[in-house]
Amino acid sequence: MTVYLNGQFMPIEEARIPVLDRGFIFGDGVYEVIPVYSRRAFRLAEHLKRLQHSLDGIKLANPHSDGEWTKLINKLIACNDGEDQYLYLHITRGVAKRDHAFPKPPVKPTVFMMSSPLLTPPAELLQSGIACITAPDNRWLRCDIKAIALLPNVLLRQMAVDAGCAETILIRDNSFMTEGAASNIFVVKNGTLLAPPKDNLMLPGITYDVVLELAAANGIPHQVRKVAATEVFDADELLLTSSTKEILAITTLDGKPVGNGMPGAIFAKLHQLYQGFKRDVMRA
Ligand code: PDD
Repeated sequence: MTVYLNGQFMPIEEARIPVLDRGFIFGDGVYEVIPVYSRRAFRLAEHLKRLQHSLDGIKLANPHSDGEWTKLINKLIACNDGEDQYLYLHITRGVAKRDHAFPKPPVKPTVFMMSSPLLTPPAELLQSGIACITAPDNRWLRCDIKAIALLPNVLLRQMAVDAGCAETILIRDNSFMTEGAASNIFVVKNGTLLAPPKDNLMLPGITYDVVLELAAANGIPHQVRKVAATEVFDADELLLTSSTKEILAITTLDGKPVGNGMPGAIFAKLHQLYQGFKRDVMRA
């Protein structure tokens, strides 16, 4: 695998960062995951916009213009195997003596990118759906920042794995659903798709936006509003979205079937539309 580190392309085995990097010491940085289809970065402008939002959120200057990012990203895609790839981009506040406050004057940020073949969910999983658990959302109040400090998400996702499940759906204040530990979640009730609003309590997913656009363009009734925990437990269908999982049906929640326990009609429609969108936009 060829990676990009601070201005150079190199084999991953040769990539090194100093131990005083603030990403290593404090988790002081942000990241993006960008799917690549037919060697073209999917929704690149939107990913770069969210990156800027994350950088603004941690008060770190963007080391590159969108034009420079586009060139670097395209070169990294060309250097790696696979028509479809999973591109990971990571920026930290750089290397400095350990002090919580920002280095003064600022130091050069560390910029790292890697790209590996994208493995989207296999057909069996699309047919069976996945099992999830719920847990209290105990993360901070800036979940809109795609921060590399992911320990709460790591622990929440591991809860699912320990329970033999795929993802943990997060419930804030014992009251409403925010998202998954590494995904966005939609509820379907009586044929209407319900999505929590993009606020400080969830990551504004790029796939989430695509799903809502597809729903709007294809007459699927949908509402963006706070989704009560009770609506999650009472859902006809539950859907999970992310750049790497695309769209999946959640068919078991906390050990009980969701709806009739099979992927539902809205999932089938949105999955088909998403694949069509990919084909038309990316493979044309
Ligand atoms: N995670 N919410 C959280 C907490 C996430 O970590 C992710 C994605 C999403 C979905 O966003 P998008 O549709 O833009 O991928 C929502 C990535 C895939 C990751 O951390 O690997």
